[in-house]
Amino acid sequence: MDGNGRWAKAKGLPRTMGHTAGVEALKTTLHLCSNWGIGALTVYAFSTENWSRPSEEVNVLMKLFERVLKRELTNLKLEKVKINFLGDLDPLPNALKDLINESVESTLNNKGIRFNVCTNYGGRRELVLAAKKLAERSVKGELDPSLIDENVFASELFTASEVDPDLLIRTSGEKRISNFLLWQLAYAEIHVTDVLWPDFDADALNKALIDYQSRSRRFGGV
Ligand code: FPP
Repeated sequence: MDGNGRWAKAKGLPRTMGHTAGVEALKTTLHLCSNWGIGALTVYAFSTENWSRPSEEVNVLMKLFERVLKRELTNLKLEKVKINFLGDLDPLPNALKDLINESVESTLNNKGIRFNVCTNYGGRRELVLAAKKLAERSVKGELDPSLIDENVFASELFTASEVDPDLLIRTSGEKRISNFLLWQLAYAEIHVTDVLWPDFDADALNKALIDYQSRSRRFGGV
């Protein structure tokens, strides 16, 4: 959800106002994806690198996550959204962790869109953690290392129960992966738009989907 800071700066507002505006874009996008029958929406809300931002911005973001979750949980349930959080949640503030647990548990059986929020998430860290878990299971004799294949590896990722994303949307003109879902994006189509995240709307989503539909996906074949 890139471009919140630049959106705010362009309007002479504090960066944190960009994040608040970003929440509205997220609500719109989730609602549209849900209505259009898209199976899953995964967003990058906070990376393992984002802790290096000024502590004031980090605190505002944590409070914002908390406030939004508290406020939106009823609507998420009504829309049958199944929410999950991907990442190392341990270092998050306790109040936020409680809300995360409550929202995950109370939407667990929902059959609507899967909404994954990457929070304190880093693609490399996820891969290292998976390798560590497989090594530990092997040392304990629970796993024969010769049986480790792509499926076994993927089952140790935060996304164990998810299918790989078909489309990666990069807002604000950035052309990097930025440590996002490094394993899972192996065959994803990439759509880059100059739209800053708070301005991302139905039109921007439509353009991304039309771009996606024009691609010929070969998955390495011919
Ligand atoms: C990146 O823009 C955005 C973030 C680090 C935060 C995104 C979070 C939200 C929109 C809140 C979502 C809320 C919930 C509950 C999931 P940036 O600050 O890097 O922008 P810049 O590149 O323009 O500086």
